[in-house]
Amino acid sequence: MSIVSTVNTEMEEKVKLSEELWSETCWEIGESRFDPDQAITAGSNFMIGNGYMGYRGTFADDRAGQYPALVVTDTYDNADGTWKELVTAPNGLFTTISCQGKDILWRQGGFREYERRLAMRWGEWSARAQWDTPGILVEEERFCSYDDLHLLTSRTRITALGEVALEITTGIDGTVWSLNGDHFSSLSLEEGPDCLEASCVTGEQGYHLVLREDARLRSGPEGEIEPCRRTALDGTLCRVFQVSLREGQEVVLEKRVVLYSSNDLRDTTKITSDAARGPLPSLAEVRQAVAAGLSRAVARDWNLLREAHRRVWQERWASADIMIGGDPVAQTLIRYNLYHNVIAAPAHADHLPLGARGLSCQAYQGAAFWDQEVFNLPMFLFTEPETARRLLVYRYRTLDGARKKARDLGYRGAFYAWVSGDTGEEICPSYFFRDVLSGRRIRNHFNDWQIHVSPDIAYTVWKYVAATGDQEFLYRYGAEILFEVARFLASRVHYRPGLERYEIIRVLGPDEYHENVDNNYFTNFQAQFVCRYAVETYDTLAEEHPQTVRGLEERIGLEKSERDAWDDIARRIYIPAPDSETGLIEQFQGFFELEDTRPEVIKKRLLDPGEYWGWPNGIAVETQVSKQADVTQLFMLHPQACSREVMKANWEYYEPRTQHGSSLSYAVYAICAAWIGHGEEAYRYFLRSCTVDLLNTGKAVSGGTFIGGIHTAACGVAWQIVVSGFAGMYLTRDGFGFAPHLPPEWESLSFRLKRWGGTLEITLHRRAMTVKALPENPRDIQITLGSAEVSVAPGGQVALPLEG
Ligand code: BGC
Repeated sequence: MSIVSTVNTEMEEKVKLSEELWSETCWEIGESRFDPDQAITAGSNFMIGNGYMGYRGTFADDRAGQYPALVVTDTYDNADGTWKELVTAPNGLFTTISCQGKDILWRQGGFREYERRLAMRWGEWSARAQWDTPGILVEEERFCSYDDLHLLTSRTRITALGEVALEITTGIDGTVWSLNGDHFSSLSLEEGPDCLEASCVTGEQGYHLVLREDARLRSGPEGEIEPCRRTALDGTLCRVFQVSLREGQEVVLEKRVVLYSSNDLRDTTKITSDAARGPLPSLAEVRQAVAAGLSRAVARDWNLLREAHRRVWQERWASADIMIGGDPVAQTLIRYNLYHNVIAAPAHADHLPLGARGLSCQAYQGAAFWDQEVFNLPMFLFTEPETARRLLVYRYRTLDGARKKARDLGYRGAFYAWVSGDTGEEICPSYFFRDVLSGRRIRNHFNDWQIHVSPDIAYTVWKYVAATGDQEFLYRYGAEILFEVARFLASRVHYRPGLERYEIIRVLGPDEYHENVDNNYFTNFQAQFVCRYAVETYDTLAEEHPQTVRGLEERIGLEKSERDAWDDIARRIYIPAPDSETGLIEQFQGFFELEDTRPEVIKKRLLDPGEYWGWPNGIAVETQVSKQADVTQLFMLHPQACSREVMKANWEYYEPRTQHGSSLSYAVYAICAAWIGHGEEAYRYFLRSCTVDLLNTGKAVSGGTFIGGIHTAACGVAWQIVVSGFAGMYLTRDGFGFAPHLPPEWESLSFRLKRWGGTLEITLHRRAMTVKALPENPRDIQITLGSAEVSVAPGGQVALPLEG
């Protein structure tokens, strides 16, 4: 398989070298070489999940040292006094095989043949290996069911390649890999009725987590083999099967694991604090839910379980898939990234966040950052709007946490948590990184100065309402979020009488290396946008939906004078203007006075490769080197904020000064590069962004903190690179506009877009674009392409020529 590319960069060389990862079908990734040193990365890349649980793509016999993890949503718990994070459950798929008295362990390699695959199409993991002496072939497949979110299941076929005596030990491994402390005050492994059970209680919150496992070994369709004994060794509880096979004979092990936590049975509508969710259900109630789930799963044939699971994936891909003609690597990459965004999203719930590392491990605490709204959500907005809505309802349900944070810091309204778990209270520790030279903790002000998360959320309320027309959401949830954020901003800005303007001082913009800066362009612009939107919304609601305004007056004490204050801020907040000669916009006040240098230059100043580059005394602080896109980040959200010339001048200035120390950065540069006509750079950044995890270009540990796992923001934003960047899609009042800039290798690009409950199928070829509207669409949707404007009626189709 070849990669057609225009620029021969280091990145593309790397992509080429990894060709074995791509499959012919473009629906799978795989590896045929086993590298034990890649346990962390491969465990994440090959993971399976369903938004409720994530199961890392490790092997059935792996122990804590290989980082297996079953991460369960809505189990936030603080074990070490610092990090509140999701819990890793006992491993119910744990299985070891010994053959002729010799342990066969995946992690020890020594295969004659080996393969590990992830089928993105079906959310299925599989692995296959053949060992020579003694000769067996093991083939395992597994999935986290989308049909029943509490079910994790696997099927392992073991074929004898000679005469063999096997011992298969399977059960639950209770020794879990946990990042920041042991979360269980008690963990017991017991024999349940026809199953094994792990029952745990979390130390801080006292949540129950119960997992039951059913395992059946068969030789032939009817021949169920009984285990010969139980064993409880080294933190595991297993049953042991002994079986002798002749050459060509096989046995099949089916495992069904069902788990529930206390929170799965609690009220999900009032997540303002743990107490507000009502009393914790008893262990007996949690057990009952698990028992019911397991008997449902056991009653169904494994193939039927899989069929039901696959049907859900089929539906999801029907709206989410992007098809790229002529570039199989890009095709595989895009599906890989979309897949990870989907499995990270708690689409089943509206009280849970989409974590910056999803459910791939506990890093980043299973919590939402601004990533959720700006990077992950837009894909859902146009492909699965109900999921986008749920993510925003989560922000509504966590308003009390945001209000508390504002109050605690002396502000009003809603100051959203930088790191937001179940209640929305700030869970970002004050000390995030460590100085690796001195061992001292670094006070990072992510939690109290990185205020842009609040306007980013309110901006997304605007985007959601604009794209979907979901006024009901605005009345019930959106307006309150918006007004509380505007209220927060009003209490956070400073009025400078001499200059007669509002300023926002002491913040971090998206570029986290520079803390304690004033008038960050991104933050001020977002604040202005939100204040303006709040005024418009207030006025429209006052006229058209006065009961919403009255409700808010009663509930949050909203006053008309606040609307006037937002209006004043929107008019007079300081927005750094582009320089009249160079077109450059200063990232924050004083940025251009810092040492003008490049990441590769300052890197040489490091005394230790693990040093944190940022505030207060990292190597980047006194320089113009940014961690990630910042001014450019604003353009991604507001492409009309400036002319294309200004965008281009700033892209060219900031790009060489950006380290891309955050996985969020590449995509921003890719999208803007596509818009300003830097096609080669756009494609190169697209590849970089889409391979952050796959080719492990990120770092697993920074400043002493583990930050590995799947970078879900990079995954989610892949959709935006292709659709907003390359296809140049933008929202118009009556539909969509397009300004395509396809990479030269791409023969075609197709995807679906949803708006107002209708669906369009868009296909771009090099010379023409076709738009098909599904017959069930509720209304006409207008398409703008260059100067052409056409309306596509339900069931209609149009073809438009592409200029140039
Ligand atoms: C980035 C932030 C991001 C966070 C979580 C950090 O490294 O700088 O912008 O929100 O990771 O992805």
